[in-house]
Amino acid sequence: MQVDLSQAITLLQRGEVVAIPTETVYGLAADANNDQALSKVYALKKRPANNPLIVHIADISQVLDWAETFSPLAQKLAVAFWPGPFTLVLPAKPHVSNILRANQPTVALRVPNHASTLNILQQSGLALAAPSANTHTQVSPTTAAHVTASLGGHVAVFDGGACKVGIESTIVSVADDNWYILRLGMISEARIEAIAKQPACKGHQSLPVAPGQQKLHYSPNTPIQLFASQLVLQAYAGKQEDCAALIIGQGDIANTQTFCLPNNPDQAAERLYSTLHQIDALHKKELLVEVPPKAADWSAIRDRLERAAHKNT
Ligand code: TXA
Ligand code: MG
Repeated sequence: MQVDLSQAITLLQRGEVVAIPTETVYGLAADANNDQALSKVYALKKRPANNPLIVHIADISQVLDWAETFSPLAQKLAVAFWPGPFTLVLPAKPHVSNILRANQPTVALRVPNHASTLNILQQSGLALAAPSANTHTQVSPTTAAHVTASLGGHVAVFDGGACKVGIESTIVSVADDNWYILRLGMISEARIEAIAKQPACKGHQSLPVAPGQQKLHYSPNTPIQLFASQLVLQAYAGKQEDCAALIIGQGDIANTQTFCLPNNPDQAAERLYSTLHQIDALHKKELLVEVPPKAADWSAIRDRLERAAHKNT
């Protein structure tokens, strides 16, 4: 069910759930201070209660409404990357809903970089909890049509066009003057390190986790097999029937319906999920995927494809 901006705001203020665009993927939004509204989000998504939600705020001045502390390191990162595809996990204030944060001691915050989303945040006066607007473990939506296909026509959707970034935000936890990457997005580790002026903390025993980052995630219905090169993929495809192929750059795999992602990580990210949705609709026996280059700027896309393929490995 399509709604306009003012209907979206009214519904959200009444404690209803509305799918809204952001620059990364569509989010299933609800008033972050309303436990009943938050419960609707979990129910609609079939999301396990132990997987916390990101709170979207209108600007950096609202951080201390939610976080107990906003350290100089966290402030530097927020100033550099907000509004944008970047989420900060900080110690939560005691009043922050346990449904929202799934009993974690922390809260995840993001200022999105999307004019309509910022309008909704500012005009409603709300902070909005919003996970990706898809059923649990499915591919995230980057258009209003994807939301309706995944969650059903009864869910209110504000259509703000196709998402420009195309994959979910980078999530960074800041604790004790250290920073940890919980999920990689299109803001790369190198860019964060350049602002933090210290490397990410890794492999530490007390490494914080994003409970939602289990391996089986972002999965299309079509089983996926990954291939290190187009040549190996081509050889395998030659012996198969009824497969689709997803390759990087130009090309055509013989006897196989071939989809191409641009040979540029930003453009490939923008197109990745809509291409996966398109391929899923064909109900092929298998999707053969060329793994993107090992270079750092492809890391987030490699991560999503590896997770998408996981149930198959
Ligand atoms: O780009 C995005 O981040 C999109 C748009 C809608 O903003 N949202 C999104 O939400 O991807 P979701 O719920 O699909 O993924 C949020 C991730 C989950 O893996 C969750 O476990 C983690 O963030 N998370 C949320 N709160 C956390 C917390 N307090 N500590 C650690 N991880 C947290
Ligand atoms: Mg998600």
